[in-house]
Amino acid sequence: MKYRQGLKRKKAGERGGTNYNRVRDVTGASRPFTDAVVTAPRIDSGELRIYSLDNLTSQSAGRDKGEGAASWFGVELDGRVHKPSLSVRWKTNADGMARLKAAGRLEATASRLGYVRYLDDFPAVQITNRWDDVGASFMADKVYVVQTSQTVVQRCILLSTDPGDLVLDPTCGSGTTAYVAEQWGRRWITIDTSRVALALARARIMGTRYPYYLLADSPEGQNKEGEVSRRPPSSQPTHGDIRHGFICERVPHITLKSIANNAEIDVIWEKFQQALEPLRQSLNKALKQKWEEWQIPREAQDNWPQETKSLHAKWWEQRIARQKEIDASIAAKADYEYLYDKPYDDKSKVRVAGPFTVESLSPHRVIGVDENDELIDSKPKEETRDFVQIILESLRTAGVQQAHKEDKIVFSALTPWPGSMVCAEGRYVHSESRATDTSGLRAPEGANGSAATRRAAIFIGPEFGTVSRPDLVEAAREAADGGFDVLIACAFNFDAHSSEFHKLGRMPVLKARMNADLHMAEDLKNTGKGNLFVIFGEPDIDLLGPEDGKYRVKIKGVNVFHPATGEVRSDGPEGIACWFLDTDYNEESFFVRHAYFLGANDPYKSLKTTLKAEVDEEAWATLHSDVSRPFERPASGRIAVKVINHLGDEVMKVFRVG
Ligand SMILES: C[S@@+](CC[C@H](N)C(=O)[O-])C[C@H]1O[C@@H](n2cnc3c(N)ncnc32)[C@H](O)[C@@H]1O
Repeated sequence: MKYRQGLKRKKAGERGGTNYNRVRDVTGASRPFTDAVVTAPRIDSGELRIYSLDNLTSQSAGRDKGEGAASWFGVELDGRVHKPSLSVRWKTNADGMARLKAAGRLEATASRLGYVRYLDDFPAVQITNRWDDVGASFMADKVYVVQTSQTVVQRCILLSTDPGDLVLDPTCGSGTTAYVAEQWGRRWITIDTSRVALALARARIMGTRYPYYLLADSPEGQNKEGEVSRRPPSSQPTHGDIRHGFICERVPHITLKSIANNAEIDVIWEKFQQALEPLRQSLNKALKQKWEEWQIPREAQDNWPQETKSLHAKWWEQRIARQKEIDASIAAKADYEYLYDKPYDDKSKVRVAGPFTVESLSPHRVIGVDENDELIDSKPKEETRDFVQIILESLRTAGVQQAHKEDKIVFSALTPWPGSMVCAEGRYVHSESRATDTSGLRAPEGANGSAATRRAAIFIGPEFGTVSRPDLVEAAREAADGGFDVLIACAFNFDAHSSEFHKLGRMPVLKARMNADLHMAEDLKNTGKGNLFVIFGEPDIDLLGPEDGKYRVKIKGVNVFHPATGEVRSDGPEGIACWFLDTDYNEESFFVRHAYFLGANDPYKSLKTTLKAEVDEEAWATLHSDVSRPFERPASGRIAVKVINHLGDEVMKVFRVG
């Protein structure tokens, strides 16, 4: 476990600063911190410092008590001797107390001797476990209904991690955690069961301009560190390792103890005494006074001779110089606390998200076998039938969606079919009126006499597992034998090879992806609403080349099945939001080697706005294209093309090349 204490700026009158109710100037003259003082320019210039008169004693224990104890003694200040009560002791010993006095840190009231603690000694308060400054008011522009406040997540990440650490959020939602982690140079992994959440998170992370924080392990960082710590910059070689952290703002942390232990104060004091003492004596002599240091008035009187006035002025000059030098020594010796949430940034740099991948898993179920390789936990037959029946029930109500509403397939009848792969026969009707009716209502069978009934063979994939190409081939063969017009295969997942398969002879094979909600179909209200079965179609592609040994891919659109005609036609590239190319597909995972964005609503313009910067138009043009850049013949002999539409549906197609 580690913990990075969060700090907030301390403000007089607010939490951690409520006792800061007096101000002093460099001569030690003090007065209450009133509203009139708050607005005085001398506050801003630092000439008047806000302070609180803090306790100089603490509970005593054991031998460190009463007369004769090391921390129990009389302290003389301005002609009065102060002693703590017998039950307490000073917070420091006689040497320490002398330094506090020399530094002007002691002040007496009628009742006690106190320690002058300036607000700027430690202008910060620790963030505790009560967070009342990170609220819902920051949530004006939510993109997700249950989006978490960014400031809350940011505080969690900053207090528990360092740059380069890995942050995991298994319930991604709109990706607030990943987004904040990305901003703060943490690595991240985030997970969600919802594609909507992942699509939102992906867009949010990719579409943002992040501040560029100065890395400690960089020449710019070394320079900045030198500048803020007022030391010569380090000349160590740098490697840009983010784990060394950022250069952050910091606040001094001056404590009573650090002043009491600062022996340099003695030296400075002695040095100035040599100038101050002769001046004081001459002044006393000229004015026939016996003033101690603390009795010398701040202002000279008008009737003093010029020479005396000059002595008096010189004394104060030295006195103020002494105070400033001691204050500087205290500041130089002070510890620092880092404000981890305030790194310095390089405003001239534009930073966008680093590379990341989006991966998905098929819901494979590992099936147990005994020593003879016999299945031991296969599901009983009736259960399987139950699943199929439930799915058919939903299919009957919901129909099959396609990219265009008018192409929706609505069944007028859905009856069991005794095949080994095909489990049902679905009849659907289409007519001229149906084709334009986008209400989703069913047309009565035989309406206008122009309706024709078509027969679809229905294949339902497994409850857990992926449908493979051989399954589809077998089902399509059965459909052809049964004289069906089309095969509709419904499954949660299709393997990569089956994505290349869309026809067996004249038999169109439609792959309808089942919504994950259908896993709980039994508990689902069967309302017919929601896209439970969706056909996205096939990417329609030309492979160009080889030209000079290199290939290119042209994307023409997505092939869509038209239920009215039974044809499959390309719907043009307008429906495509983006497409990706894996120019050397390893048949396991899709690796985005090329990415292209075809968005109709000018993604270039929104990218430009988001980045608040000029985008290299030439470079952008190569991304905003339906033709890929040239690529070498794949070593694996295969390429894969992935197409994503504006709804976030994606399909992939694998090609053999060369
Ligand atoms: C309250 S939201 C998270 C909001 C997120 N912190 C944000 O800022 O947007 C919870 C998320 O958990 C997801 N979720 C629910 N059950 C899940 C599971 N078993 N595994 C992964 N994610 C799940 C939901 O889809 C939903 O997006």
